[in-house]
Amino acid sequence: MSSILQSIASRYSPYSFTEKPVSQEDLNTLFEAARRAPSSYNEQPWRFIYATRDDTESYNRMLDTLVDVNREWARTAPVLMLSVARKRSDVTGNDNPYWFHDTGMAVSNLLVQGGEMGIQCHQMGGYDRDKARELLDIPAGFEPVAMMALGYPGDVQKRSLEIQERAKQKSTRHEVRSIVCQGSWKLDRE
Ligand SMILES: Cc1cc2nc3c(=O)[nH]c(=O)nc-3n(C[C@H](O)[C@H](O)[C@H](O)COP(=O)(O)O)c2cc1C
Repeated sequence: MSSILQSIASRYSPYSFTEKPVSQEDLNTLFEAARRAPSSYNEQPWRFIYATRDDTESYNRMLDTLVDVNREWARTAPVLMLSVARKRSDVTGNDNPYWFHDTGMAVSNLLVQGGEMGIQCHQMGGYDRDKARELLDIPAGFEPVAMMALGYPGDVQKRSLEIQERAKQKSTRHEVRSIVCQGSWKLDRE
């Protein structure tokens, strides 16, 4: 079996980041990678809102949307970001059944590209969607998807013991044989 890409193998969700900012040029590269993702009818439902730490007001607004337990470590990230998706399809006039899927693919591109550049991303579902909608001026027809903390991974020993414990938990994965079957559903091995 050939080996998987290094940026996929070494990707993880850090609980601590260094002070080093992510340059605008590097952020643009990440967005370029996201933009290239495939999507149903090429509708590209993804949008991104981000704030860098030097823009204190915008950064704190995003930080404010997080649940406490996420805010504690995410505030060390130089960049906070929210993926947002357009739910409606211009092609069918109905809800696009792939809005969530396609937006996740764009985020995945961003993560893999980031990994190549030494930038890691910790995604978060733990935030207040209504607050995000209001504070970040998200218009009707668009849905907040996932919050992200991005940057260069830092020393987790600088975080609280609780966070250190969480970071220590092993990030396990299902075996390929329990998620893949050939021909038809034969996943009775779990
Ligand atoms: C959509 C989504 C929501 C997540 N929400 C949170 C969260 O609120 N807080 C958190 O600490 N981690 C969150 N995570 C990170 C996952 O817990 C993490 O990806 C998983 O445990 C695997 O670990 P790894 O990314 O280090 O491989 C989230 C990940 C995704 C993709």
